[in-house]
Amino acid sequence: MASTRNKLIKLLEKTRDNYVSGQFLSEELNISRAAIWKHMKELEKDGYEIEGKSKRGYRILKSPEKLSENTIQWGLNTEWLGKKIIHKSSTTSTQHIAHQLAQENTPHGTIVIADEQTAGKGRMNRKWHSTEGKGVWMSILLRPDILPYLAPQLTLLTATVLADVLSKDMDTEPKIKWPNDILINNKKTAGILTEMQAEQDQIQYVVIGVGINVNHTLGDIPEDIHRKATSLQIETNKTFDITNLIQHILQTFESAYDSYIKYGFPNVKNKWESYGFRIGETIQIKTIKKSWEAVFLGIAEDGALLTKNNDGEIKKLYSAEIDWYREGERNHVN
Ligand code: BTN
Repeated sequence: MASTRNKLIKLLEKTRDNYVSGQFLSEELNISRAAIWKHMKELEKDGYEIEGKSKRGYRILKSPEKLSENTIQWGLNTEWLGKKIIHKSSTTSTQHIAHQLAQENTPHGTIVIADEQTAGKGRMNRKWHSTEGKGVWMSILLRPDILPYLAPQLTLLTATVLADVLSKDMDTEPKIKWPNDILINNKKTAGILTEMQAEQDQIQYVVIGVGINVNHTLGDIPEDIHRKATSLQIETNKTFDITNLIQHILQTFESAYDSYIKYGFPNVKNKWESYGFRIGETIQIKTIKKSWEAVFLGIAEDGALLTKNNDGEIKKLYSAEIDWYREGERNHVN
């Protein structure tokens, strides 16, 4: 049923502004014209506005604002990404579902999306607040043919995709805080969590979790993170169509990923550095054990954080974090 409906939407979408005859649809889908009519009624219940004219056929006037597999796929211009979309109104974490699906041989490019997560996960075992209907809470399942040690490059690639979409399509000026925080006006708007299942020299699968605070007002952001976290709406005073944003991300991601697989990391590195937060400045670096100052030079060929210590030593770091403040600013920003 669901797949017939998807095919129906795809056929209507292909012609967009033109009518598609009931006869054509019934032949393509191998179902009766009465069944086509029933599907149209179901689509209307889902929030689609459909026009049906005798002798001409059907056309979609408007797709619903509600997030669903169909609304995302309607108008999604990708070759392989998002061909399978699992949408949940509420779930613990889209990462959990994506991992389960990955174990069941679900294909490369599958997307899991939720309106709300009750146990959203951030990096370093942090919680990720995922308010209902306000943001993008999405996991992308990939089966890349790259060596496991290169997987962190996919996080950096995803960060450039989000920065590109937020700057080009949403008219903001994002920065990427190494490795994966997307900042607008120095506050975090989006984060990426990459998890992987691999053997020593082969990746089984990677799940890239993307969280974007989109239509949150200040009241939707927990008070204890007001100084660090924000949303697109807070920063721009505009509200955004989440379906449209997801489509832009998937389209941009697919082309960036294909080009990464073909040409490797150098283009990703350059793009990442063009958005890099505090490149060339002295930053505060934090690991579990210590915190110190160094100049942030950029990212290395393999994606590591490249720094220069006070004594001139150049260091590559793989699992540190850039702290929000420099030493002297400790009293101002927590
Ligand atoms: C971070 O910056 O700490 C990463 C945040 C990642 C959040 C996303 S929301 C969709 C996916 N599901 C999760 O539970 N987490 C990721």
